Amino acid sequence: EKGGYDSYMLKEIYEQPQALTNTLIGRLHDETGEVNLDINLDPASFKRISIIACGTAYYAGLVGEYLIEQLARIPVEVDVASEYRYRDPIVSPETLAIVISQSGETIDTLEALREAKKGGARTLGVINAKGSSMTRELDDTLYIHAGPEIGVASTKAYTSMVGAMLMLALWLARARGTLSEEAGKELLHATRELPRLVEEALSEERVSRIREVAERYAHARDYLFLGRGVNAPTAFEGALKLKEISYIHAEGYAAGEMKHGPIALIDANLPVVVVGTESRLLEKTISNVQEVRARAGRVILLLSDGDTENAQHADDVLYVPRSHEMVSPIVNVVTLQLLSYFTATHLGKDVDKPRNLAKSVTVE
Ligand code: M6R
Repeated sequence: EKGGYDSYMLKEIYEQPQALTNTLIGRLHDETGEVNLDINLDPASFKRISIIACGTAYYAGLVGEYLIEQLARIPVEVDVASEYRYRDPIVSPETLAIVISQSGETIDTLEALREAKKGGARTLGVINAKGSSMTRELDDTLYIHAGPEIGVASTKAYTSMVGAMLMLALWLARARGTLSEEAGKELLHATRELPRLVEEALSEERVSRIREVAERYAHARDYLFLGRGVNAPTAFEGALKLKEISYIHAEGYAAGEMKHGPIALIDANLPVVVVGTESRLLEKTISNVQEVRARAGRVILLLSDGDTENAQHADDVLYVPRSHEMVSPIVNVVTLQLLSYFTATHLGKDVDKPRNLAKSVTVE
């Protein structure tokens, strides 16, 4: 049932190109640049969007916020469901509440959905599990079609959720006329390339390099993950994955926040993973890397293929396939999933059943 893999988690990591294909299939139309999501809600009728989710799904929501605001120019807020449901949120019929959930059963997200509905919001779910509790209460559901996810640490559901958020952002942008035809086509093309790029991120050569690096740092007590812009959530997700399955303490920070506190932690024993792939703000991220090194921190740097110039700033470089910045969180996170996976297995941990965790959290 694990299809020859040692664990469900590893199997699901390798299933990502197919899962993403299933998320995207039939929904993007190259010639017209149209996005067809089978959603009945009117995309031009919202003044604001609230995204609500827990854990990894919350990080998919943070990527979604960035994409929707950039492409569709609608104000977006993102909340963890356990906060949203109790904070007496400001909701109106002009609010679109988007809940994101793999299981569709997470109690906090379900209750937050009910709270949004009480306030008159229209509701849309980005969901994996067919017919789950949330889907019965939502106005519309955009299924991610990632297939069953068994491993407690979410992998393929995450990349498919981000793929769905990307399509939603494109759908909203088209309806609202905020994206030029040319930019729209470019992004559509970049989105279509995703399954191939993720496949490339899983090449044997890259995977064995990730393993080697993971094992070199597996005895660290703490880890820091940094990223910027649309890849800040990639850093958060990388940190969550590592703590869930290896029990190493890890924190994810927006790179620019490092100076405001976490820099105090840096010494020769602290590996710092930095997402430094091609971006408008790469120079700024590299200057954060230099600050880490000036304090003897050990830098593991994710760089886009071909970026040999910035390699000099790292102790270890992990190259990832080059992708359009807006779609890069999906490609980049795969390397971080594998980094956690190999760290945990090197330490002898059971990655499919990490201690204290349940696959879906149905009690508060
Ligand atoms: O089923 P959901 O997507 O609603 O679950 C949300 C979180 O419980 C989940 O993402 C959790 O953080 C995972 N263990 C992450 O790997």
